Amino acid sequence: MGVSYKELGLVNTREMFAKAMEGKYAIPAYNFNNLEQLQAIISACVATKSPVILQVSKGAREYANQTMLRYMAMGAVEYAKELGYPLPIALHLDHGDSFETCKSCVDFGFSSVMIDGSHHSFEENIAVTKKVVEYAHAHDVTVEGELGILAGIEDDVVAEKSSYTDPDQVVEFVEKTGVDSLAISIGTSHGAFKFKAGQPVPPLRFDILEECEKRIPGFPIVLHGASSVLQDYVEMINQYGGNLEGALGVPEEQLRKAAASAVCKINIDSDGRLVFTAKIREYLAKNPGHFDPRQYLKPARAELVEMYKAKNMNVVGSANRA
Ligand code: G3H
Ligand code: 13P
Ligand code: ZN
Repeated sequence: MGVSYKELGLVNTREMFAKAMEGKYAIPAYNFNNLEQLQAIISACVATKSPVILQVSKGAREYANQTMLRYMAMGAVEYAKELGYPLPIALHLDHGDSFETCKSCVDFGFSSVMIDGSHHSFEENIAVTKKVVEYAHAHDVTVEGELGILAGIEDDVVAEKSSYTDPDQVVEFVEKTGVDSLAISIGTSHGAFKFKAGQPVPPLRFDILEECEKRIPGFPIVLHGASSVLQDYVEMINQYGGNLEGALGVPEEQLRKAAASAVCKINIDSDGRLVFTAKIREYLAKNPGHFDPRQYLKPARAELVEMYKAKNMNVVGSANRA
């Protein structure tokens, strides 16, 4: 038996994006896989009064179970109230790989889904996206599509090479599919190794973003692969036994610029992973006799809160928008 996201107290992304477009900021979309990440996201968003999109990847569903994650998101709605500030919270399927996956999330309480048909031909991408939109909209669930390929891992799909979004395709894609938002490829990529170490970081292709905006004015655009790969945490990981030499991400000022455009959703996963791992490594290195997970997860969670607060305030610009 299905369950509607409305019964879980969640919202879809429609109003969030309309306000973000109007206010020239972006909604943060943070991935979560466990309790501590979720608590940190909610604490930070309550503290900064920010709307938020909780993202669940295929990997997260395999790791934590889709039903568990859905009820955790429902818990997050109540947790925000308990912390003193009810938030607009969307539960979003990240990189849905098929109609069936998206349907299952719509049926079981997600308020938003992404159908990532970017690895298909243009025509097949349109066909599968349209099918998802028809089903999702019948349940008032919003849908994100994708045009162009980001390098890195998109769940099962590993793209060696990126291909930028072709602005000439966006109007046809948006009109034929009926999607609510569109992820585009302008030089970001997934993971912690986005650019070649030892070389200047190439700027994002704002020219492509502008061309897309011109063709679909006022339409919400999504940026994946938007972690900045914060160097303090990379260094901390390396200092305490890890090896992430050469990890590099998107400079925050470029994301700020994107957030002020039609980019209404900015996806951040890797930065959270880095913060969490860095603090756990540091704690365990300094406290070799400790073995209660609460001891090392607590400082990791606390640091995550600070990182998400900083993203909301200084990068995506969503603070005080809830
Ligand atoms: O888009 C990719 C996300 O960072 C999720 O990755 O499938 O390893 O959870 P994951
Ligand atoms: P990062 O790997 O840059 O955090 O990107 C996350 C993402 O796009 C999730 O869909
Ligand atoms: Zn992504």
